[in-house]
Parts: sequence; structure tokens; C-alpha cells
Amino acid sequence: MEGEIKIVKTGTPGLDELFTKGGFIHNNSVLISGEPGAGKSIVAMQYIYNGARIYGETGVYVTSEQSVEKLRENAKELGMDFAELEEKGLVKLMKIPITHGYELASDELMREIKKEEVKRVAIDSITPLENLSTDIRGFRVRILAFIETITAHNITLLVTAEKQKTDFDNMEFTPEDFLFDGLIMMGRLRKAVSFERVLSVIKMRGTKHSEELHPIEISNMGLVIKSLED
Ligand SMILES: Nc1ncnc2c1ncn2[C@@H]1O[C@H](COP(=O)(O)OP(=O)(O)OP(=O)(O)O)[C@@H](O)[C@H]1O
Ligand SMILES: [Mg+2]
Repeated sequence: MEGEIKIVKTGTPGLDELFTKGGFIHNNSVLISGEPGAGKSIVAMQYIYNGARIYGETGVYVTSEQSVEKLRENAKELGMDFAELEEKGLVKLMKIPITHGYELASDELMREIKKEEVKRVAIDSITPLENLSTDIRGFRVRILAFIETITAHNITLLVTAEKQKTDFDNMEFTPEDFLFDGLIMMGRLRKAVSFERVLSVIKMRGTKHSEELHPIEISNMGLVIKSLED
């Protein structure tokens, strides 16, 4: 029955409205893919930050590229005070231990996801792990196993990945794009002498979704999806 499907709000203003069911499907895994500076990390931060602050759902944010301190600083510039939520135990920020070989489901992360109150996990990003993999098949198997491990704990997972280029006219997909329940692409479109930032939902198993390219805006208030009429 449709009424039994639980929806997880994305925490990014305007994004829930792109899905007919009003957000991500509970327990799904979603990949946000896009070029450098497209806004992937901000969407991931808002998923965890607003998930806790607005929806009261505890979340874990795993960063691979920056220190936890730097992440807190960056978030603050975007209007998100993680420290406050960390003190309340609503958010946990951690750095992925890439130096220990590569184990996505680290002991530290496993300890967190076993806590019943943890409902959201964001991994930003999996690309360094992909680069460390010697074979792509092994990488796929590991990612699939990771998705299964996380979602088995009643968690809705958001993962980011870097794309070398995001050509919306001629899309090319990488192996990991096929592994997740949902795929969102972020990039830029050229408009005369400037670029416009856009986001598009490529797939979302279990719900109908917008097929359009949606302009987005980033400011010190965070990232929002603008309405197409603007
Ligand atoms: N306070 C702000 N006001 C306006 N724009 C901002 C602000 N903070 C960040 N940005 C914009 O957001 C971009 C970074 O977004 P984000 O870190 O989410 O990108 P990303 O897709 O994760 O990139 P990468 O692949 O390099 O990690 C910056 O390049 C900048 O253009
Ligand atoms: Mg990033």
C-alpha cells in the first residue's frame, strides 16, 4: 500500500518537490554525482543538518576530502552550525580512514549505524576510494555490500561522487551510477557569457520524479532549488 511507504525529506529546499512522493524513499540509497564545485557536498550537508534540525532524525556525515574541523567551518559559511547538533548528539561528523587501506564500513561508522536512532548517513565522497581500487568489479562489489550493510540498519543513504564532466546533452554514466536506487546529477549549463548551476534527477526507484533541469542557487543561506518560473 502506498500509504505505508515512508518518505525521507531531503533537507534541501525545493528538492523534495521533484519527487512525486515528496522526498527520498526510506531505506533507499541515493548517489549525487557531478563536476567540481557543483554543490554535491552542500546537498549532503543539508541532508544531515536539516535532517536533524528540522526533522529530528539523527545522522552521520562521513567526509573523505576534508578534516572534520574544515567541514564545520565550511558549513558555518552556509548557515549550518553543526557543533550545536553534535553537542546534542543529533549529528556525528567523521573522516573516512582512507589511510587504513580502504574500508568504507569502518569500525567507527559501524558503531554509529548500529545505534537505533541513526536514520541518515551521508558519505562525501566515494571517488577517492574508487581511485584506490585496483579493479572496477571489486569496487562495485564493495559498494553494493556497503549499501546493503547501511540500509539493513534502517538507514537512508546519500553518497556523493565526482564526475569529470557533466554534459546534460550527452550523458555518460559510470559503473557506480547503476548501483544506487537514486541518481541525481549536478552541473553547469552555459548561458551566453555565464554558467547556470543546475540539478536533475536521473532516476529514483520507487517514485516518479521530475525530468527537468532545475536551476539552483548557492548563498550564505545554503543551496536551494529555484522554481522553474523564476
Ligand atoms: N557562502 C557561499 N555563497 C555562495 N556560494 C557558495 C558559498 N559557499 C560555497 N559556495 C559555492 O559552492 C561551491 C562548493 O559547493 P560544494 O562544496 O558542495 O561542491 P562539490 O560539488 O562538493 O565540489 P567538489 O567536487 O569539489 O567537492 C563553491 O565552489 C562555491 O561556488
Ligand atoms: Mg565536495
